[in-house]
Amino acid sequence: MCGIVGYLGEKDTKGILLAGLKELEYRGYDSAGIAVLQDHDFQSYKAIGKLVNLEEKTKEFVTDSFAAGIGHTRWATHGKPTELNAHPHLGESSYVVHNGIIENYAELKKELVAEGVTFLSQTDTEVIVHQFEKNLKSAASAFEAFTKTVSQLEGAYAILLVTKSEDKTIFFAKQGSPMLVGINAENEKYFASSDTPLIGQCTDVNYFEDGDYGYVTKDEIAIFDATGTKKEPIFQKLSTNKLSAQKDGYRFFMEKEIYEQSTVISDTLLGRLTETEVVFDELDTNLFENINEIKLCACGTSYHSALTASYMFERHSHIKTSVEVASELRYRDPILTPDTLFVVISQSGETADTLETLKMAKKAGLKTLVICNVDNSSMVRLADASILTRAGVEKGVASTKAFATQVTIFWMLSLYLAQKRETLAADEITKQIQLLREVPASVQVSDTLHERVKRLSKRYLHGHGFFFIGRDVFFPLALEGALKLKEISYLHAEGYPSGEMKHGPIALADPELFTIALLPQHLLYEKSKSNVEELSARDATVCAISPLVFDKADDYIPTQNHADYMLEFFEMMVVVQLLSLEISVRLGNDVDMPRNLAKSVTVE
Ligand code: M6R
Repeated sequence: MCGIVGYLGEKDTKGILLAGLKELEYRGYDSAGIAVLQDHDFQSYKAIGKLVNLEEKTKEFVTDSFAAGIGHTRWATHGKPTELNAHPHLGESSYVVHNGIIENYAELKKELVAEGVTFLSQTDTEVIVHQFEKNLKSAASAFEAFTKTVSQLEGAYAILLVTKSEDKTIFFAKQGSPMLVGINAENEKYFASSDTPLIGQCTDVNYFEDGDYGYVTKDEIAIFDATGTKKEPIFQKLSTNKLSAQKDGYRFFMEKEIYEQSTVISDTLLGRLTETEVVFDELDTNLFENINEIKLCACGTSYHSALTASYMFERHSHIKTSVEVASELRYRDPILTPDTLFVVISQSGETADTLETLKMAKKAGLKTLVICNVDNSSMVRLADASILTRAGVEKGVASTKAFATQVTIFWMLSLYLAQKRETLAADEITKQIQLLREVPASVQVSDTLHERVKRLSKRYLHGHGFFFIGRDVFFPLALEGALKLKEISYLHAEGYPSGEMKHGPIALADPELFTIALLPQHLLYEKSKSNVEELSARDATVCAISPLVFDKADDYIPTQNHADYMLEFFEMMVVVQLLSLEISVRLGNDVDMPRNLAKSVTVE
């Protein structure tokens, strides 16, 4: 979580840092700050809330000569989102920004406090700059002090540090949190937590590995690995396509991203389907050799797509499949056997918990695959194989099109595996390929549908809670619908298997309990309908989403008559996304940057 940027060069340092932070603001927006070392003098500004507040504060600040600057946008982990807790953090004559968590900060802080150091913030980060300055007192150089500091830190970090004792240098260290450095023909150096801020500024970038640390000056990029051995940067060309998401007339990025789903799903399918076969050129033909089980692991929305996948893998590919929440898997002692393919799913490819499980699986010698939306992300670089979802930049914190493309990939992958394992007849695969081609049409948002959801949303602003219910793959979709609503409306919502309501939750049923019932006609319709009837009989307020008119519901959102339940799945996905969006809009919430959240969760 959090975003960091750095710049060393002669251009407008302030403008460059703020523009970089703008690109990273989705990673956290509790506060933001910059520190610029220019002509041996520091200027630092911090502001709570969104970046616009920092922009306002720095209006008069001019940077017009060679400078070393660092910036940060924060998602609070240690300490409240106050200005004092905002980065950069100051020592005596150095500033630091940090993304991650310093696990041993309490013990380091205790020692420093005992030695008379005063701490201004409640953050774990501040310990880095004080520890550095303590080390500086006995070190031969700032780099020696920085090296020692890094060796004393435990936890996850991407760090940038600037100090008056080496005023034309930026020191960096990376362990577990993403960071890269970029260069261009003008001999400028840029740092960032992801490549987006560097697109258009840099031609080539080096992605730091865990354990890397070092320094950058005008003429040198010195990188050392965890053993202290100097290594050469490995530069890769940086894409020039900014893909910088604009709202294109939509009110919110989330809305735009819901409408984009048809196009991005077409992109996801592109080149991967023939008339009779699913093709993944990016996969080695032997990836599934000697594999008898699939373990899927992810967080949040990506976890819901993994759950959906588990139904498809067992149904289509007849392969034992289990699904894990990454933050749970990490800390138990899972049995990881070499005949298991370990699959992580992540929009960002940077989610700390998921990334750690990938490392665990690799260490245990499992074959690994990542389904990811960001090329060159940490997970893509680490896994044995990757499939990119091609959803494009997703800016809304509430994930929509990433989920849609993940499920599309999983549907294809279950058929790909069915081909290999000969678990589906050829004509069934051909039929499902035809269905897959209909997905882009099934997620197109009609004015009628959007208008209907908009009108209905006003009835669902209060009450004591929501249950989204569904069976089979519609259960993970119910979980996803509830998560969407929670994230952006701040209303309590749960996803539940329809058949499970009678085992407890139905006790909550009354007119103030809102049930959003997913009732596809092609999958367990009668069974799901009975479960909803049980709820309406107890006077719960029911909103049915179905192609079949359901007279026991208070409200009804009609969906189209599709040929297959998976197409119903995709259309209902759009309905629950729109419903959350419209409820959030009516409640006056910040749809794209909901409170307490961040787009990329790079802390555990
Ligand atoms: O980037 P990832 O897919 O790994 O992110 C996982 C979750 O943090 C993410 O899906 C989160 O739940 C979203 N805000 C859901 O809308």
